[in-house]
Amino acid sequence: MSAEHLIIDHISIEFDSPKGKFKALDNVNLKIRRGEFVSLIGHSGCGKSTVLNIVAGLLQSTEGGVVLEGKEVNEPGPERAVVFQNHSLLPWLTAYENVELAVKQVFKGRKSRKEMREWIEHNLRLVHMEHAMYKKPSEISGGMKQRVGIARALAMEPTVLLMDEPFGALDALTRSHLQDSLMEIQRDLKNTVIMITHDVDEAVLLSDRIVMMTNGPAATIGEVLDVDLPRPRYRLELADDVHYNHLRAEVLRFLHERHSKTDVQSNSEVKQAAKTEEKKGAGADRKAA
Ligand SMILES: Nc1ncnc2c1ncn2[C@@H]1O[C@H](COP(=O)(O)OP(=O)(O)OP(=O)(O)O)[C@@H](O)[C@H]1O
Ligand SMILES: [Mg+2]
Repeated sequence: MSAEHLIIDHISIEFDSPKGKFKALDNVNLKIRRGEFVSLIGHSGCGKSTVLNIVAGLLQSTEGGVVLEGKEVNEPGPERAVVFQNHSLLPWLTAYENVELAVKQVFKGRKSRKEMREWIEHNLRLVHMEHAMYKKPSEISGGMKQRVGIARALAMEPTVLLMDEPFGALDALTRSHLQDSLMEIQRDLKNTVIMITHDVDEAVLLSDRIVMMTNGPAATIGEVLDVDLPRPRYRLELADDVHYNHLRAEVLRFLHERHSKTDVQSNSEVKQAAKTEEKKGAGADRKAA
């Protein structure tokens, strides 16, 4: 058996489209260690969700495959929990029941009813949803639904946690709270995490490696950045850290360069973002000097 925990082994995928075959991914190849936190970053439409869905077993690659602990992955499994980009709760169940469904699937016969109840409540508390546990998805906001989705995934204690822009829809305070919780949970449970994000700070704060994807079609891995910042990491301390700012500048440079090949409107957005980042970085450098 390979020493690697999770291998994304030279995957390519083609979708059928009205104009014929559309190659979304070409030869994506990545080996991930147990307990490693990997972020996927890249421009909209490049193929990040497609990579994640292949690892989740929800899509089949056209070439290559995914191997988890020596076994090929061809279908979904509870050891690979997914937090989807668009919250995906069963609308006829309450927040509590949505989490319960997953917990029953994983812990049936291993936890008593009381233990299951406590575990469900614990995970909902973790995402600050204790006040709305018995509400249905139609009665809560988008960010709240997203938080229930995160609680559901965490409650499954998955070996591999797959997260597709999990904090994108949340306000800044909830987002930073959940990022901190995720770092703590991952330190304790040592789950392997693959997280898609558009947020450069989030990627640097949370990741061991940041995998930067080229633009599609036929997207692949462009660069991989090692985030060798010691843990535990504290956002306020890191804001003034020269190495942290260097790492985030590397990610921004990659995105900026890739963006010069895409549409003009988005390009100006990225330039604006890069300017803001440069200012922030300069501020930090001055402080550090
Ligand atoms: N089922 C499908 N059938 C046809 N084309 C698809 C399918 N799923 C994805 N694609 C195409 O594959 C490409 C990659 O899509 P994907 O959703 O993986 O992008 P993404 O990087 O997650 O984008 P975003 O950041 O906007 O979420 C896009 O061009 C998309 O239109
Ligand atoms: Mg996506």
